[in-house]
Amino acid sequence: MTNYEIIAGLQKTLKNSRLGHSMGVACTAANLAMCHDKDLIDKAFRAGLLHDCAKYMKDDESIAFCKKHGIELSEYELKTPGLIHAKMGVYVAKNDYDEHDEQILSAIRWHTTGKPGMDMLEKLIFVADYIEPLRKILPNLNEIRAMAYKDLDQCIIMIYENTISYIKEKGDCFDPTTLEAYEYYKK
Ligand SMILES: [Fe+2]
Ligand SMILES: [Fe+2]
Repeated sequence: MTNYEIIAGLQKTLKNSRLGHSMGVACTAANLAMCHDKDLIDKAFRAGLLHDCAKYMKDDESIAFCKKHGIELSEYELKTPGLIHAKMGVYVAKNDYDEHDEQILSAIRWHTTGKPGMDMLEKLIFVADYIEPLRKILPNLNEIRAMAYKDLDQCIIMIYENTISYIKEKGDCFDPTTLEAYEYYKK
């Protein structure tokens, strides 16, 4: 499928704001690739377009979708259905957008929590999702944006620090992957 066909498909399923965000992530990820790994420009754009391709269902619909298609959910994911669209995204990208590049599918899979030992494409999408131009303004966002083009791993640490203090403030519990990944990048 061409990038234009993917955009046309997303237009049919996603809200305008989500489509705008997806375009923002695609362009930002491609820009980051121009800076950090020129061989990944095309994959970064495509993974950015597709990363939220499953983010159009309500929570109960997402859980039903996963049951129907045999997508296993952790206890934490059942409590925080907002995160499930990453796993569902892999399924939707394969089946609705004919995307079978393992590296792109893995970047979609890990874009919400990140994970220890991410490869370059996974890092680009994780960071681009956080810093794209339409992102609502969060504390330290402009410092994080600047760091993304200087030191990607340092930028990832800053994103985790922000995320962890935000979750603590809200009094929510953590996805264990978030904490594991934070510890990993701090070392
Ligand atoms: Fe997402
Ligand atoms: Fe996103």
